[in-house]
Amino acid sequence: MDELMRGWKRTHYCAEPTQEDVGKEILLMGWAGTWRNLGSLIFIGLRDRTGTMQVVFNESTADKSVFELAETIRSEFVIAVKGTLKNRAPEMVNPNMATGAFELIASELKILSKASTPPIYVDDNLDAQEQIRLKYRYLDLRRPRMQEILRTRHKISECTRRYFGENGFWEIETPMLTKSTPEGARDYLVPSRVHPGKFYALPQSPQLFKQLLMISGYDRYMQIVKCFRDEDLRADRQPEFTQIDLEMSFVDEEDVMSINEGFIQKLFKEIKGVDIELPLRRFTYKEAMERFGSDKPDTRFGLELRDISDIVGGCGFKVFTSALEGGGSVRCINAKGAVDRFTRKNIDELTEFVKIYRAKGLAWMSMKPDGMQCSFAKFLTDEQLAAIHERVDAAVGDIIFFVADASNSTVFASLGALRNELARRLDLIDHTKDDVLWVTDFPMFEWDEEEKRYVAQHHPFTSPKDEDIELLDTDPSKARAKAYDMVINGYEAGGGSIRIHSTQLQEKIFSLLGFSKVQAWDRFGFLMDALRYGTPPHGGLAYGLDRLTMLMTGTNNIRDVIAFPKVQTASCLMSDAPGVVDQKQLDDLYITIIEKEV
Ligand code: AMO
Ligand code: AMP
Repeated sequence: MDELMRGWKRTHYCAEPTQEDVGKEILLMGWAGTWRNLGSLIFIGLRDRTGTMQVVFNESTADKSVFELAETIRSEFVIAVKGTLKNRAPEMVNPNMATGAFELIASELKILSKASTPPIYVDDNLDAQEQIRLKYRYLDLRRPRMQEILRTRHKISECTRRYFGENGFWEIETPMLTKSTPEGARDYLVPSRVHPGKFYALPQSPQLFKQLLMISGYDRYMQIVKCFRDEDLRADRQPEFTQIDLEMSFVDEEDVMSINEGFIQKLFKEIKGVDIELPLRRFTYKEAMERFGSDKPDTRFGLELRDISDIVGGCGFKVFTSALEGGGSVRCINAKGAVDRFTRKNIDELTEFVKIYRAKGLAWMSMKPDGMQCSFAKFLTDEQLAAIHERVDAAVGDIIFFVADASNSTVFASLGALRNELARRLDLIDHTKDDVLWVTDFPMFEWDEEEKRYVAQHHPFTSPKDEDIELLDTDPSKARAKAYDMVINGYEAGGGSIRIHSTQLQEKIFSLLGFSKVQAWDRFGFLMDALRYGTPPHGGLAYGLDRLTMLMTGTNNIRDVIAFPKVQTASCLMSDAPGVVDQKQLDDLYITIIEKEV
């Protein structure tokens, strides 16, 4: 035992004492948060991960040496205090604090560790820049809000293991030093010392291994596991993040979805006390795109998209007709009753906003009380205008926004993003509600314009729908997958699929994705080989634990739910990773650094 603590044993955490402890001697340990020295009285907010207790040193009752020692306490000193728990005088009760009715009248004190003046306040109201918070993350993590978030994260993991454990899933670890598993991002590579010139890839997910576990007869697997993806970071993405990963044998889509509905219901109940109604609503990918312009729709508000392509075909507005001639569409959103909320300047802002999503512009129609104003009315007949009004249910007070493009995905992407932006500006989202739904029937493939080839929408191991198998030969772009995403409040919380369990079909998918037979066998031979030796039909899903924690704790910054996160440039401001390494280490790995030309 630490010499300092000899004979001193903590009796409670700081926020634990209750009315029953009043009058008793207790001993607390923690960090000195707020402190006030009123001359003859010193107040200290003593903090640990449970909360804060007000400690009082009284010059007239405490030992002189104790009081003098208390005078030396500064912010973030680590102290141990013995004393008697008292009720505060009624006018001193702090209803905002769990322990606000009590105070500890100190009789003995030990300073266990002094602290230099901290560069940031350990306070939830702190307005320090995130850069500074991340540099001194260990101080930032002392804040009650951060501790509450990480406690919730722990509870989510704990509930997850219990639920899947009770349902027959075994937690099995899969390797971190492995071969590339394609999930659409770049790999993080680790050079091998014993195999000069060869590299391990850190897993983008345990996808191949969990499938191999099904082939090995483990039937139900789950794992809370780190995944690594070298991709552009956003507010909801980190280069290393955590999945709740699972896989099941002898199942179809319904089985996987049903076990996961049970899970999400339990999680919301335990963590948030919220009842989620089952079965969850389902939208096909097609319906989600056509109604909401997104495969992760937030359905807590309306603003649904409408297609007016059939009305405006052949009109005089080139923007519309050239989009249609190019095989695209013209769609719009009616922001009902919001015409007064958008000035010309706002419309210009929204036009710039949709350009981020490659829209070429934003046309609009304002239903003013003194008549309609519209950026393209002069090109349309009265009948066409009337038909648009009917299609979008236009009334006085509405403003309608239109995007036309030869690429439907541009129309959907820009209007889908505009829909969210309009909801935000018009404050239409009821944040007290949770919106949990499935999106199903994703396309198997997406056409990659840059690479001029198909890429898997989910991943290459996803099975096509039985009725669409023939389309693989005729029109692969139309083939749908046995894939499903769970969407919560407009976030993709999880996604999965039923897998291919035949070598031939797997080979065919690789060839559609542009892999030669040699390349496919070189990279995934171990899987294709294994498929030949008795593979049960199987499927699964993976959630982003970080995203689930964001949703459960109401933050939209993924760095808030990770103890030691990375910033936009994928570096850690606290440890300064990534760093340079010794020449000796490079030599061991047969690595030469080539200076980048700038
Ligand atoms: P997918 O690639 O959809 O599927 O990933 C599953 C879930 O992981 C989360 N996620 C991320 N979270 C934070 N930062 C990231 N960079 C990041 N990337 C993904 C998302 C996502 O829904 N092997 C398949 C699953 C399966 O088919 O069973 C997979 O990895 O919440
Ligand atoms: P222009 O012909 O480019 O001057 O555009 C006329 C109007 O149509 C402007 O209000 C543009 O913002 C809008 N517009 C241009 N391109 C598109 C498009 N692809 N979809 C919707 N509106 C557009």
